[in-house]
Amino acid sequence: MRVKLGFGYVYARLSNLTSVAPSARLTVEVFAGRIRVFRSCGEYWMRRKLVVGNWKMHGRMASNTVLLNKVVAGVRDLKGADFAVCVPYPYLAQAQSMLQATNVAWGAQNLNQYEEGAFTGAVSPGMLSDFACRYVIIGHSERRGLFHESNDIASAKFDAALKAGMTPIFCVGETLAERDAGVTEQIVATQLDAVLDRAGTKGLAKAVVAYEPVWAIGTGKTASPVQAQAVHLFIRQRVAKQDSQVAQALCILYGGSVKAANAAELFAMPDIDGGLIGGAALIADDFIAICRAAQK
Ligand code: 13P
Repeated sequence: MRVKLGFGYVYARLSNLTSVAPSARLTVEVFAGRIRVFRSCGEYWMRRKLVVGNWKMHGRMASNTVLLNKVVAGVRDLKGADFAVCVPYPYLAQAQSMLQATNVAWGAQNLNQYEEGAFTGAVSPGMLSDFACRYVIIGHSERRGLFHESNDIASAKFDAALKAGMTPIFCVGETLAERDAGVTEQIVATQLDAVLDRAGTKGLAKAVVAYEPVWAIGTGKTASPVQAQAVHLFIRQRVAKQDSQVAQALCILYGGSVKAANAAELFAMPDIDGGLIGGAALIADDFIAICRAAQK
């Protein structure tokens, strides 16, 4: 169905939204990973699939140009989902200039929670805003593990990203030892509660959550769709205890060895709203195939 959106049109799969009759007069706003539908009788939220590439510490100016040109051309006609790449800081200007007139958004992989000061090597939220970043990844397991970021620091960064008007992609996930010990839910709950305690459900309503089991990152060992769905549902239910509307609209990505071959079955699960893609985001054809899978 095609619905009017201010100055343009957006294609929305309104068939998912049982409470809105296809003939109803609608105003629609599209946000990161979700669509807000206004009708005379109220306001509804639908989730929209989102695929984000996390380039990590990869890329060079010349290879980025090739990759971004291919990605832009490959997803140009995909109107049913949102796409983004989170690039290393030095390439934000390149991403901005190459992506600004496209349907691929861009963002960063980290930020410092302070706006300025004597923090050698750090990058502030305002600096990211200067490059019009829409997204910033917060609390990735590599930041938590390799750079010793606690739940407290991750939640402060989450808050700082929101205050600067960006959409935090907040990562949670357990290690293999934690899964084996049967404490996955406890770990994920603690990570999630850190941002809920600081920013509340109002803050989470403007964010994206990514479930990334540490044992699945870069290992080729993907969580099965059933395993991932169980944790996604747990996350949604935990948020629902505080605010069921926010929970229903919350975009929850899965990350950890998502490939062209397994994306569709993961994205078909009811609480998996897309993916945060590492290695496969560096190969244009693979990333495009994953973006296509999000359309189905
Ligand atoms: P891989 O897709 O390489 O496993 O990485 C996942 C990830 O960490 C995305 O943030």
